[in-house]
Amino acid sequence: SDPDLVARARAAKAKLGDKVFILGHHYQRDEVIEFADVTGDSFKLAKDAAARPEAEYIVFCGVHFMAESADILTGDDQKVVLPDLAAGCSMADMATAEQVAECWDVLTEAGIAEQVVPVSYMNSSADIKAFTGKHGGTICTSSNAERALNWAFEQGEKVLFLPDQHLGRNTAVRDLGMSLEDCVLYNPHKPNGGLTVEELRGAKMILWRGHCSVHGRFSLDSVNDVRERIPGVNVLVHPECKHEVVAAADYVGSTEYIIKALEAAPRGSKWAIGTELNLVRRLANRFAAEDKEIVFLDKTVCFCSTMNRIDLPHLVWTLESLADGKVINQIQVDRETESFAKLALERMLALP
Ligand code: 13P
Ligand code: SF4
Repeated sequence: SDPDLVARARAAKAKLGDKVFILGHHYQRDEVIEFADVTGDSFKLAKDAAARPEAEYIVFCGVHFMAESADILTGDDQKVVLPDLAAGCSMADMATAEQVAECWDVLTEAGIAEQVVPVSYMNSSADIKAFTGKHGGTICTSSNAERALNWAFEQGEKVLFLPDQHLGRNTAVRDLGMSLEDCVLYNPHKPNGGLTVEELRGAKMILWRGHCSVHGRFSLDSVNDVRERIPGVNVLVHPECKHEVVAAADYVGSTEYIIKALEAAPRGSKWAIGTELNLVRRLANRFAAEDKEIVFLDKTVCFCSTMNRIDLPHLVWTLESLADGKVINQIQVDRETESFAKLALERMLALP
């Protein structure tokens, strides 16, 4: 990185002292991670944000839905800042409040809404989290989806899982032992989600038709290719990957799980990782010294373009503005949305 920018970021951070707390998601660039006070997956970061009541500014180096969640979970006098407002998430954008309200009408008309508990992935807007809280549901992340689904099936007979079909399907089938036939796919762009009343009534899991464009790139071919290229390789993928990829992998877990698995891996072991490239590259460099070979599961380069929007120039601009007393790019969820979204997030944080 540019040494001048590094020096400016250091100086501004030092000037702010305890007033600022910088959170960095594992998919952030190295130049940004260097300045993070904590790094983590989306579950850990949600908890870490809430655990810093003394920080006036929470600078969230991640994407928009994460900053919203931090705003919901932190005190009213704390300001959450996203260094680039264009850092969204294409998956979160696949479920809008209007579409989800329409879906609920479809479920109501099919006579099943009372049996349905919504479970929404953290990767969703505050509006979707509020919908979830209002209808008795919970949020989940990739590190607690199994517990969230078990909890939901204690509350009702069916789950509406938003917005990542893959995390929903993978968790239902791998962890809860359901069959693929127990799941139906609700397409928000089709009348009645493209489903018949019978299909809706017969399903246990109603999966929203959303996906992550980054993890969607991994295919069964990439798993087969890497096994051929590197005999004895362990394939470790994120649960946002397609079901066939997850089914063919050796291990599946959140970004935090991936890091822990590699920390515990024996010397000389070989790993192919199916998740975002900034993290995989960082892990490959870190563990090379321990003689662990780590490769990216796919042959093509695969960054999350919105995570990558947060770069050192944006971080410098953010920190220098805050150090000058100027609050920029604040993420603020309105009170009504916040109260229902908080209910759903707190249900997640209370999961056994
Ligand atoms: P986790 O950090 O929870 O594994 O999520 C991955 C992700 O895609 C975040 O956007
Ligand atoms: Fe969204 Fe996928 Fe990027 Fe995560 S990796 S922020 S789910 S687009």
